[in-house]
Amino acid sequence: MAYHVPVMVEEVVAGLVADLDGSYVDATVGGGGHSWALLQALGSKGRLLAVDRDREAVAAARVRLAADARAVVRQGRFAELSELLAQEGIGPLSGILFDLGVSSHQIDAPARGFSYQADGPLDMRMDAGVGPTAAEWIAARSERELAELIVRYGEERTARRIARSIYRQQRLAPLTTTQALRLAVAATRPQMLNKTLARVFQALRIAVNDELGQLQAGLTAAEVSLKPGGRLAVLAYHSLEDRLVKQHFAVLVRGCICPPRVPICTCGREPSFKRVSRKLQKASEAEVKQNTRARSAILRIYEKIEAG
Ligand SMILES: C[S@@+](CC[C@H](N)C(=O)[O-])C[C@H]1O[C@@H](n2cnc3c(N)ncnc32)[C@H](O)[C@@H]1O
Repeated sequence: MAYHVPVMVEEVVAGLVADLDGSYVDATVGGGGHSWALLQALGSKGRLLAVDRDREAVAAARVRLAADARAVVRQGRFAELSELLAQEGIGPLSGILFDLGVSSHQIDAPARGFSYQADGPLDMRMDAGVGPTAAEWIAARSERELAELIVRYGEERTARRIARSIYRQQRLAPLTTTQALRLAVAATRPQMLNKTLARVFQALRIAVNDELGQLQAGLTAAEVSLKPGGRLAVLAYHSLEDRLVKQHFAVLVRGCICPPRVPICTCGREPSFKRVSRKLQKASEAEVKQNTRARSAILRIYEKIEAG
């Protein structure tokens, strides 16, 4: 089975690669699908730093990209991007890609604990072995904290009922498997069990991996590391990620941060980025037919502009 089928590859490559001999980063290399396509588009002097926090992804990408001397694959998180770039002596960048979320390989491996459809340890860590698992996260929190999390990161209205059920189970025997979590959610008799499970699992995954904190750090690193004319492409799969990207760049595209009631700008800030396309980019119907994961993808591309 393929490690992961990359989403909107043509759109990403066309939107990102303007300088064939430039330096690029794929911050979420996964199985290397986007990286491979980027390398096909780059010239002989182009360079690519491919990064992933997941050791299994790094190993798979190293195999896929091994024959290409223009590519280097490193394990690391978004928050470590500046450090990795400095260590590899790469930059300023012509482009950087963030293809957010989890890969099909991570979801499909029961041992990783991301899937509510298969039984496995309640883990959910992208960088396996680092930091608390989802089971440890639940054990260390209160019912109220979990309910708040499920509302904030899962956008699930019945969060309080679900959190109550989870901690009722937790008091009898600590939840250590994805099936135990599934049963605790199912006990609340949600109208659409799979949708509710997807939201609860998403919320926990985001918390366990500090996904939004990492994304914020990654966007800031990208902002600094791109050269004028350099581009950033983000593929987001749910509204929380997409909103964060949109809000982060809204400020940079506008420049001025004066309150709306101030008639004349006093902050003096100039725009530092522009949107490459005003229209939101989504996967084509043909792609969604082939790969249902592409259905929720939203692609945003921004370009750094010369300071005025
Ligand atoms: C959707 S998959 C990327 C698939 C990839 N584009 C491909 O073509 O195979 C997302 C990947 O990003 C990685 N990831 C998520 N958050 C990360 C972070 N903060 N730092 C580094 N890698 C991260 C995950 O481990 C996962 O392998």
